[in-house]
Amino acid sequence: MKQEDFFKNLVAHCKEYGFIFPSSEIYDGLSAVYDYGQLGVELKNNIKQYWWKAMVQYNENIVGIDSAIFMHPTIWKASGHVDAFNDPLIDNKDSKKRYRADVLIEDYMAKIEEKIAKEVEKAKKRFGEAFDEAQFTSTNPRVLKYKEEFAEIDKRYVKALEDNNLADIKQIILDLGIVCPISGTRNWTDVRQFNLMFSTQMGSVNEDASTIYLRPETAQGIFVNFLNVQKTGRMKIPFGIAQIGKAFRNEIIARQFIFRMREFEQMEMQFFVRPGTELEWFKYWKEKRMQWHKALGLGEENYRFHDHEKLAHYANAATDIEFNFPFGFKEIEGIHSRTDFDLSAHQKYSGKKLQYFDYELNESYVPYVIETSIGLDRMFLSIISKAYKEEVLEDGSERVVMSIPAFLAPYKFAILPLTKKDGLPEKAREIMDKLKMQFMCQYDEKDAIGKRYRRQDAIGTPYCITIDYQTLEDNTVTIRERDSMSQKRINCNDIAAEANFAF
Ligand code: GAP
Repeated sequence: MKQEDFFKNLVAHCKEYGFIFPSSEIYDGLSAVYDYGQLGVELKNNIKQYWWKAMVQYNENIVGIDSAIFMHPTIWKASGHVDAFNDPLIDNKDSKKRYRADVLIEDYMAKIEEKIAKEVEKAKKRFGEAFDEAQFTSTNPRVLKYKEEFAEIDKRYVKALEDNNLADIKQIILDLGIVCPISGTRNWTDVRQFNLMFSTQMGSVNEDASTIYLRPETAQGIFVNFLNVQKTGRMKIPFGIAQIGKAFRNEIIARQFIFRMREFEQMEMQFFVRPGTELEWFKYWKEKRMQWHKALGLGEENYRFHDHEKLAHYANAATDIEFNFPFGFKEIEGIHSRTDFDLSAHQKYSGKKLQYFDYELNESYVPYVIETSIGLDRMFLSIISKAYKEEVLEDGSERVVMSIPAFLAPYKFAILPLTKKDGLPEKAREIMDKLKMQFMCQYDEKDAIGKRYRRQDAIGTPYCITIDYQTLEDNTVTIRERDSMSQKRINCNDIAAEANFAF
């Protein structure tokens, strides 16, 4: 199946089964805003819990907070967002469509990478076991030509970004012959900067109202609470503060479903360390976070690092963890060594000391910070895009199955009485009432059992429990596993133990 078709089917499936709906759908929707439905919210909550456990529960030196979305407007001045949280935009004069200039160039470069990957794939098939990828990519003339082209564009692009040279960015677009996908023309406007923060007024009377912003990241809520948490929690450096919450960005290019939204959720952690130790900690968190992603079981080959060559003014090291989404490798999580930039800026703008007294060194300092920042919605998308499968079974029938990791699945068990009579529903209810105290379960007695299995496969329920006449005699049920479709009989009292949802 073509990737575009796969993605379309996935989006349609999410809507059909109650994972994700377009926001305000009865009013024709709101661009780049989505609502999570009855199944989506369960999966989302499970992802949050999975992250929270790994970051807060398993690390004694990390605690969580939940700061307000509205914050003092000066925070965004201090953080640099008022002056520098911009995207470079370009319009096509014929289609009147607006694009992010950097994305146009990066997409072009990604296509060159795809061409290299295709050459490697072809050669792998041709040479079989004897294939040496490193040797192939360093000697094959076609691959070398692509690599050279990539390096040339990359050099120009990084320089233009570093110099903040918008004219040069436009020139790169023109030189590469990038066309508008709608009009097909190269009739571009100049590149302009556009601030991504949403603003609103606080206060009822317009004259004394002050402009406040919907936070574009949750991180600043952590920085401004650094001392509150450190003092009240008696935290000793190194320590971390974690937070899950909404963030808002007026994204211009709103595409790719929940990958880039205007309202989304972040799971962020700021880790405060002694100055001079930050690069060690950066390395630590870089590895730790990658391990966490890979442990999910979506395929190790679907993750890679993208180290930043051009660093933001506040960072002295940065990397992205990229995931292989249906539209290619894209950022799922960012890990930054943010130096003391944020705390120092807040110290300056607020006039309040934000320092830590280190008893071991007998001195005060502004801690350095390592940040891990993952988009919850992107994590959701990574899971469903690898889980969604359209299968043809041995008997020729078809099924759609969502192979969501069992511990994250919205429902853990489906409770299915074989018929609606003869005491089977009562027995099924008895089992349901016991299991639901511990697990999300769904009761279903409508339609033939095969149809009910298909419905549960489509929403990713890992286990179906069928109650039949034998259950009434010996208290056993059939447990059916979603991915293998294998079935066995077990005692009712062993259902919870049979299914292992630990993580
Ligand atoms: N505090 C650092 C920060 O916000 P970022 O790279 O801008 O860094 C972190 O964002 C993560 O938030 C990204 O890796 C991505 O997963 C997610 N994210 C950013 N913008 C998003 C958007 N418009 N829609 C969905 N997720 C987004």
